[in-house]
Amino acid sequence: MKAITFDTFGGPEVLHVAEVPLPVPGPGQIRIQVRAAGVNPLDGKIRSGAMKAVFPTPLPAVLGIDVAGVVDALGDGITDVAVGDRVVGWADAPAGSYGEYALAGAYTPLPDGLDFPAAVTLPVAGETAARSLNLLKVGDGDTLLVHGASGAVGQVTVQLAVERGATVIGTAGAANQERVRALGASPTVYGPGLVERVHALAPNGVDAVLDIAGKGALPDSIELRGGIDRIVTLADFAAQRLGVVFSAGPPENSADDLGTLADRLVRGRLITTVAGIYPFAEAEQAHRVSDGGHAGGKVVLIP
Ligand SMILES: NC(=O)c1ccc[n+]([C@@H]2O[C@H](COP(=O)([O-])OP(=O)(O)OC[C@H]3O[C@@H](n4cnc5c(N)ncnc54)[C@H](OP(=O)(O)O)[C@@H]3O)[C@@H](O)[C@H]2O)c1
Repeated sequence: MKAITFDTFGGPEVLHVAEVPLPVPGPGQIRIQVRAAGVNPLDGKIRSGAMKAVFPTPLPAVLGIDVAGVVDALGDGITDVAVGDRVVGWADAPAGSYGEYALAGAYTPLPDGLDFPAAVTLPVAGETAARSLNLLKVGDGDTLLVHGASGAVGQVTVQLAVERGATVIGTAGAANQERVRALGASPTVYGPGLVERVHALAPNGVDAVLDIAGKGALPDSIELRGGIDRIVTLADFAAQRLGVVFSAGPPENSADDLGTLADRLVRGRLITTVAGIYPFAEAEQAHRVSDGGHAGGKVVLIP
């Protein structure tokens, strides 16, 4: 099959389409004919070699976790879907999702009316949002500050937090303030003066902080919280030095939760954004957009 692969760590230009072996589903796995694959910032960090210590990646490698497509083959023990069903899920490594076919052990049927690119906005973002809010014990009456509310993970996180009864303040770039407001949060821009802006929006303080962006907002977060309690970052390696919790998983992939999100998305009860759709041949450009940190939603690849 054809897949986007890379033989050496480096910039987006190392990505190229090549022929790789067709993956074979093992017990408990389905094979999916890929119709859409989501790009996550993590993919760029692995591609660059920045994550070598955490994710040892034998080369050549095929990246990608978010996957949606059509079931093509069943491993032993699979009875909940049939060949030809439309599904969305988390692609298993090392086959990844940047190929014509992917393997998955956690997936859910796609509701009628939900297209493949929209579906791949959900797996990683949904799992990350739920895991983070659970870790922070965000609940009714909490005021939650979310750094990076306009991104793929942030959009889902804000809406799930509001649904839990939290008041959410979300940071985003100037161009994305109204987008964050539409998700149910009070928006504010990131950067100098953040503590004062958050104080103005939450005079009684914030109860919890989720730093999705990982762009140096932990000291401000500690000042706002008066300590490190109930602060979690998903991306700032200063966490260890500052004593802040860094959540990197392990992923708690729930097919049921994913199904619920897919259902809400198709009913218009959840907002996510497909930031752009790129054919496999344009993977380099897709990664440039994702690496830039301001994609404004999920960057999607299609075979
Ligand atoms: N640890 C985990 O389990 C886990 C799981 C998933 C993702 N992540 C990490 O979470 C991060 C976000 O992922 P994503 O998919 O949501 O990415 P994304 O869609 O690219 O979103 C990036 C977010 O960061 C904001 N941002 C960009 N530059 C900023 C700056 N200088 N200061 C403050 N905010 C800034 C963006 O705001 P504007 O676009 O409005 O400027 C946007 O809200 C990535 O680093 C990813 O690797 C970690």
